[in-house]
Amino acid sequence: MLHVPGLEGNGGRPCSCVVIVDASLVPGLHHGAAVIISIGIGISISIGIGIVISNALTDCRLIIPGGRGEGEEEGQSKCAKTRAKPFFYYALFLQCAVRIRIRIALGMLLARSVPRIAPVFRSRAKTQPLAPTRMSSNAATAPALYRPESEVLLASTFGSQPIWKARLEERGLTVRLPGEDVSKVELGIVFNHPHGVLDDVPGLKAVQSLGAGVDFMMEDPGLKGRGVPLLRIVDPLMAERMATFCVWATMNYQRKCDDYFRAQMESRWDKSVENYKNVDNRELRVGVMGLGLMGGQVARTLAGLGYEVSAWKRLPPSSGDSSSDLARVRVYHGEEEFLTFASNAQVVINLLPLTTETRGILNARLFNAMPRGGAVMNLARGAHLVANDLLEALASGQLEHAVLDVFVKEPLPPTCPFWLHPKVRVFPHMSSVTDIPNGIDQIIRNRELVLKGAPLPLGVVAEPGRGY
Ligand code: GLV
Repeated sequence: MLHVPGLEGNGGRPCSCVVIVDASLVPGLHHGAAVIISIGIGISISIGIGIVISNALTDCRLIIPGGRGEGEEEGQSKCAKTRAKPFFYYALFLQCAVRIRIRIALGMLLARSVPRIAPVFRSRAKTQPLAPTRMSSNAATAPALYRPESEVLLASTFGSQPIWKARLEERGLTVRLPGEDVSKVELGIVFNHPHGVLDDVPGLKAVQSLGAGVDFMMEDPGLKGRGVPLLRIVDPLMAERMATFCVWATMNYQRKCDDYFRAQMESRWDKSVENYKNVDNRELRVGVMGLGLMGGQVARTLAGLGYEVSAWKRLPPSSGDSSSDLARVRVYHGEEEFLTFASNAQVVINLLPLTTETRGILNARLFNAMPRGGAVMNLARGAHLVANDLLEALASGQLEHAVLDVFVKEPLPPTCPFWLHPKVRVFPHMSSVTDIPNGIDQIIRNRELVLKGAPLPLGVVAEPGRGY
């Protein structure tokens, strides 16, 4: 065996092949040197090149069973080029043989795990076309406010409204609340605002949502036909938050974590919950409804974890979405493919915008088309769901689980049966909250572009024709 210190594998990783070339054959290299190239093919491909000059060969230990030089352990200076050469080739043969055998075993091991690990690596390159980051958001270092005399009206049902107000004021804005003087207001900043509050703003130039959704603006009769642009927050960080939530919700259902929690509450050591029959990621079919910034990221993330992910969007492929980089996601389109999509999804995650066409889309027709025992997650808007249909599907066992983060009436009234339902998880509209620093930066930027009459970034302006 030939041991060359420092060249065992590539940085300690195993090699598939070691090639030793007599450097006297390579022009320009020291006569009597050996070039050792080791190539390993594993999770990554690595190439190590080492040059062993003849002196270094004194460190070689040549032990060739039954061959010339046996017993020449610690080759010392005798390990000179001429004497060592035949040993090198013999040693090379042994090295290759031994290592190739090892790699075949390793390769087989890898091949078996490839379906699980490959998607993660493959998806990484395409993940997050926009990186989720925190923007500047520092009032002290932010550039001076453009036209500070132009005021904003803030009207939302967000519990965080006082924080938004304070942060906007820190940036130099004059913030009006409903009922105050709005004569100098040019931008409305809203979320689930009481309809009518913008009606009396004479100089209104645009309305900005505090979140990703704009449905409540589309529904405001006072804004219909007014011709002002409706703007949303477009933040990859929100998409990442949503994807993280969906990973939890999917795994919680997949691994029956609620059943384990129930057992825990009864101090019960219950190994029968999954009964040693884990549903693995590649076995779970997850269907994502909606392929906007949120839906796209959710589909990409789950596919990256090895789930069998499909998606459904209402409009045909030409309408522009994030599906082009969803290589591992089967995308269904339109009403004609809706039930096929449903029949292939054990878990349905709804991230559609709320429009006339999508209102009530989570209903008995969808639930009945899904494989029995499935789960539904509504993370978009309460009005997507027909609540009674869900309760019936849960009662009949057609559905086993639901995660609800959004409701027609928020906060959810204490009398709602979802609160205490053993198969339902209720969340207070928090699966992906707007990041306030990023939101403030976007609002300040959008306000300035609107006031200057400049174009707004892609995706920020809602299209009234589409309803989102
Ligand atoms: C939350 O629901 C949002 O629209 O951002």
